[in-house]
Amino acid sequence: MVGLQGSGKSTWVHEHLGGTHTVVSKDHWPNARRREARQRRVVAELLATGARVVVDNTNPAPEDRAALIAAAREAGVPARAVWVDTPPELCLARNEAREGRARVPLVGMYATRARFVPPSTAEGFDRVDVVRGMADPA
Ligand SMILES: Nc1ncnc2c1ncn2[C@@H]1O[C@H](COP(=O)(O)OP(=O)(O)OP(=O)(O)O)[C@@H](O)[C@H]1O
Ligand SMILES: [Mg+2]
Repeated sequence: MVGLQGSGKSTWVHEHLGGTHTVVSKDHWPNARRREARQRRVVAELLATGARVVVDNTNPAPEDRAALIAAAREAGVPARAVWVDTPPELCLARNEAREGRARVPLVGMYATRARFVPPSTAEGFDRVDVVRGMADPA
């Protein structure tokens, strides 16, 4: 998955991949150290068992995605990027509406936006899908 905080990634995953894929996310271990290393290990272990895996993080830059593409290659399965392309203003508004820990600090939102590069097949994905039309009803 690729998309800003509040873009709707987890919602999309739940609706479209909930029945077929194991969801991995660093959000599952908010307090763990070395979350990146842990996530890579978990993804590799799941793929080795033959599971279909979806990684539900913002993954804004090619550097964030390279290890995931490599893990798929290693396991001999295709790597697909699903970019939930929701307008940043809408992501911000949704984040504001969140309660407690679920609300991401603004600096995090802007940092992710600043690093963002759309996913492409040029970086190694076998397939890239863009999810739009995420607008909230007026
Ligand atoms: N298609 C949609 N239409 C309207 N609201 C949506 C839609 N998808 C998600 N939302 C709402 O937007 C908010 C953010 O959605 P979600 O938690 O799925 O985002 P996320 O990309 O997983 O964010 P994060 O990166 O912080 O985990 C939630 O309140 C959710 O209910
Ligand atoms: Mg989420």
